[in-house]
Amino acid sequence: MAEQAENLTPEEEDGVSDEGSVAERAASLTAEVAGPVEQPRTETVQVRPVPRISIDCFCDNPDTGSTIQRAAEDRRLARTHTTIYMGGIDAAIEHYSSRATPNLIVVEDLDATTDILNGLERLAESCDASTKVIVIGSNNDIALYRELMRAGVSDYLITPFSPLQFIESVSSLYVDPNAGPIGKVIVFAGTKGGAGASTVAHNVGWLISEEVEDDVTIVDFDVAFGTAGLDFNQEPLQGVSDALASPERLDDVLLDRLLAKCTDHLNVLAAPAALDREMDLDPGAYESVLDVVRQSCPVVIVDLPHVWSAWSRQVLVAADEVVLVTSPDLAGLRNTKNLADLLVLARPNDAPPRIVLNQCGLPKRPEITSKDFADAVGRDISAAVPFDAMLFGTAANNGQMIGELKADGKPTEELRELAQQLTGRKVPGKQKKNVLTRLVGRKG
Ligand SMILES: Nc1ncnc2c1ncn2[C@@H]1O[C@H](COP(=O)(O)OP(=O)(O)O)[C@@H](O)[C@H]1O
Ligand SMILES: [Mg+2]
Repeated sequence: MAEQAENLTPEEEDGVSDEGSVAERAASLTAEVAGPVEQPRTETVQVRPVPRISIDCFCDNPDTGSTIQRAAEDRRLARTHTTIYMGGIDAAIEHYSSRATPNLIVVEDLDATTDILNGLERLAESCDASTKVIVIGSNNDIALYRELMRAGVSDYLITPFSPLQFIESVSSLYVDPNAGPIGKVIVFAGTKGGAGASTVAHNVGWLISEEVEDDVTIVDFDVAFGTAGLDFNQEPLQGVSDALASPERLDDVLLDRLLAKCTDHLNVLAAPAALDREMDLDPGAYESVLDVVRQSCPVVIVDLPHVWSAWSRQVLVAADEVVLVTSPDLAGLRNTKNLADLLVLARPNDAPPRIVLNQCGLPKRPEITSKDFADAVGRDISAAVPFDAMLFGTAANNGQMIGELKADGKPTEELRELAQQLTGRKVPGKQKKNVLTRLVGRKG
């Protein structure tokens, strides 16, 4: 076949349905559209799909941009949010002076020399600790490579590279079995039924997805009565109960089918709110489900029902972070203290649980002040969310979030502050500048 094709003129070739020539024509067509043709990769590459991370790329050369564009369309990057900008490192520095940084920043510096280290240093000033950086350059210099690695860069890619090489580089940072899980599991628990744990969990998850723009999966473990589906206006789904019923079958493909996609950055593993199954399962089932979810998403919010059993205790103890939501009354105080003490004892090397007072200032109800509450529990209060029957009631009835209805009020501000504490990510554009900082800034 190949020999035969060699003797054919291009016109004759047109009529031949030979796979080789079709592939060649396709390659020359892509070359016209997207720049230089890369050497086809012959070795089999086993790259696992990259989880739901956000990737911002700042290119200097349009060819690099189109290579990354093709990589972003690959099935292995399909879950990521990849955005391509032009303008290299300077554009990146400018971009993040007013925005939160994504999980991964890729910057191209065409004639990368050690000069780029200055640029990276400036970029680092507005980078969150968890953000990783890949540098692209044309300089094949081992000394530069070492300097970049020492400066905390995760990888250095030399141009030209293929889409697959780009995918491999990203994948090695996020799906390497030795790299550990990418998701942080944050468990929200109420100290009393009706304290507002679910409401706070859903709103904080939503704010992280909207304002920090991290991908968030909310797992509603309140199988029989959970409200995550209602709060995000989703059709009733089997989601979490299917996952829990056969955790050994759960992988990233099945998980994708069970998730309800609420917004670009927010998925919910909703509860069916059905009473046909009793969900007093082995604690291992809940743990396995969370293990799979955290492999695919940077922020996992668990909405724990107000029950005390082997599995709920285990989920709390195994969490990366715990948030206790309580009402500012005596029973809330007692239960918060008991739970916080137990968790600190069971997790001596972790941060203590965060405490959120909710429904503060409910008219005519005597309550314990934030300060007295903190003194009695012996721990700081992370947020105090006011009671607002109209706002929270409307949000619940309409399947909306508080931040959608009232982006600036005190309830949203308190929840936003909590979202930022939990992710360790500042949202510069969303921070209120007070007069003082403006004046100090002007003086400087
Ligand atoms: N700060 C608040 N002000 C007014 N109502 C609230 C507030 N927080 C929660 N609620 C309402 O309280 C009820 C119980 O909330 P929920 O989140 O389901 O509690 P939990 O999950 O702790 O049982 C819901 O109707 C919710 O809308
Ligand atoms: Mg609840």
